[in-house]
Amino acid sequence: VKHLLGIKYLQKSDLDLIFETADHFKEVLSRSIKKVPSLRDITIANIFFENSTRTRLSFELAEKRLSADVINFSAGQSSVRKGETLIDTVNNILSMKVDMVVLRHPNAGAGIFLSNHVSASIVNAGDGAHEHPTQALLDAYSIRERLGGVGGRKVVIVGDILHSRVALSNIFALQMLGAEVKVCGPKTLMPKYVESLGVQVEYNLRKALEWCDVANMLRIQNERMDMSYFPTLREYTKQYGIDRVLLDSLDKEIVIMHPGPINRGVEITSDVADSDQSIILNQVENGVAIRMAVIYLLASKIK
Ligand code: CP
Repeated sequence: VKHLLGIKYLQKSDLDLIFETADHFKEVLSRSIKKVPSLRDITIANIFFENSTRTRLSFELAEKRLSADVINFSAGQSSVRKGETLIDTVNNILSMKVDMVVLRHPNAGAGIFLSNHVSASIVNAGDGAHEHPTQALLDAYSIRERLGGVGGRKVVIVGDILHSRVALSNIFALQMLGAEVKVCGPKTLMPKYVESLGVQVEYNLRKALEWCDVANMLRIQNERMDMSYFPTLREYTKQYGIDRVLLDSLDKEIVIMHPGPINRGVEITSDVADSDQSIILNQVENGVAIRMAVIYLLASKIK
């Protein structure tokens, strides 16, 4: 496999290999070794057409930890604003002898499109409401780390499923690893196709939380929706937000996840997000090891 375009193009053996490789890099980093010389002859361009904090910084850090040469591109400060196309932008960057492109783009399928037009290895860092494969990998890896495995675990993904690339990639990854997955959120934010993926829909948050071992709380993707068909934020929080009172009323302690950025007080309160039940910052930490593993494994195909 030369590209990472989505979880749906992978197999369980690929996920197992990525996790084993991430285990190795995590162990190396835990010994305060800041850099390994693995990718000294590789140049990577991080090309971001959408805002990002976690994904962009952890890709850059992962690349630097592997000793790759790194260049960063933000559409907002580039000649895209003068009308340059995606293909022209990337071809110009590739002519500087770039081996791998990490691409975030608002359009679903942007990475797939690019992989058909350029010779570099493409890593999808989020394409519209389609997939965010490295997020799903680090999410599943974090569940594996906290609970000792993913197979047989019950995971509910809560919130704006309709516009979420995190939800779709998580569904693919978690099912591949043998977890049971439910989704929970308002009807207006639930895609019609979701049940065809083998996922059960639960509209009642309490019932979903009583069922699960892990709740992955998603943000409302304001930037991808027409707010006229959405419940108000106050209604949303009342029905689909989690707080300490709700969690303490369950008869077990579930693991709380969030891909970030968090809207504190909307989908999750601070006392939950910052509690021992939450593995939100573990997810961010694991993002570096997972992205090191992905880049290392893909680079072995282009060397
Ligand atoms: N989880 C995630 O993709 O965060 P960023 O948008 O900050 O990269």
